[in-house]
Amino acid sequence: MSEGSGQGSLGRGNSPRCVAITGGASGIGAAYARRAAAGGAAVVLLDLNGPAAQQLAEEIGKDCLALEVDVTDEAAVERVAARVADSGLPSVDALVASAGLAQPATAIEDFSADDFDRVLDSHVRSSYVAARTFGSRMAAGGGGAMVLLASVLSFRPGPVLAYGAGKAAVVSLTQSLAVHWAAKGVRVNAVAPGWTDTPLLRKPKADGTTRDLSPVIAATPQRRLMHAEEIAEVIHFLLSPSASAITGVTLPADGGVMAAAGWVPYGGFPRA
Ligand SMILES: NC(=O)c1ccc[n+]([C@@H]2O[C@H](COP(=O)([O-])OP(=O)(O)OC[C@H]3O[C@@H](n4cnc5c(N)ncnc54)[C@H](O)[C@@H]3O)[C@@H](O)[C@H]2O)c1
Repeated sequence: MSEGSGQGSLGRGNSPRCVAITGGASGIGAAYARRAAAGGAAVVLLDLNGPAAQQLAEEIGKDCLALEVDVTDEAAVERVAARVADSGLPSVDALVASAGLAQPATAIEDFSADDFDRVLDSHVRSSYVAARTFGSRMAAGGGGAMVLLASVLSFRPGPVLAYGAGKAAVVSLTQSLAVHWAAKGVRVNAVAPGWTDTPLLRKPKADGTTRDLSPVIAATPQRRLMHAEEIAEVIHFLLSPSASAITGVTLPADGGVMAAAGWVPYGGFPRA
């Protein structure tokens, strides 16, 4: 095998030319869409919320396509991938799988198996469908890179059990896909954000009241929420040639949450 083979187009020193972003209409996906477009990449936004995706596409302007699609629907994602291939944009060589639903903090007794499936599908099935659809094309077409969205709740799930189970599965899926496609030049990594200031986090509770974010800020050693733009920078790094040796990892971007989990406060440190 010659030096550099199996690295794919991105591993040979190129940044993505065309990025598909599931959940690209809001929050972290939208922040990365702006980042990618600012870096000169074409952007394809795949989101349930068609009008919001269209509005962002108009804001970005050149080389941005908005497609309304449920990314848990394999046949629908296959159809949009074919549309993208016919769109005149460069072929998709990067994927960010950011679609996913929040889980309300609900007692297990009040959370049906259908509710459980809906949340799990929005994270796991959606990631698998998008990765399978676009990753297979990348593997056949010279390589690429993708980033899935895990979470600190992949490792410390707390009361949102479907969300936590889904995000744990995303870590596992990242490893399986990374090994499967490594020799074909497709790198697969995940980011595990801490609590990030997006519409998902700010979503009002079922009773219409806003969520008290002070407990999650207190659980974050940096004593703040992450910003979507900070997570977008980590995604940008993982998709870039600077990360050409990295595949199969889940990188926390969490203001220290994982480092502090289980911290035994001898002597009362750290002081707030
Ligand atoms: N915000 C946080 O604190 C945080 C922390 C860790 C991980 N994450 C993860 O990051 C990702 C992005 O979260 P966010 O905070 O930007 O959320 P967000 O709600 O702002 O954006 C999510 C987008 O996904 C879309 N979406 C949901 N299900 C979909 C489906 N089946 N098909 C197509 N589009 C769909 C929504 O319409 C929305 O536009 C999610 O996977 C989330 O679990 C978020």
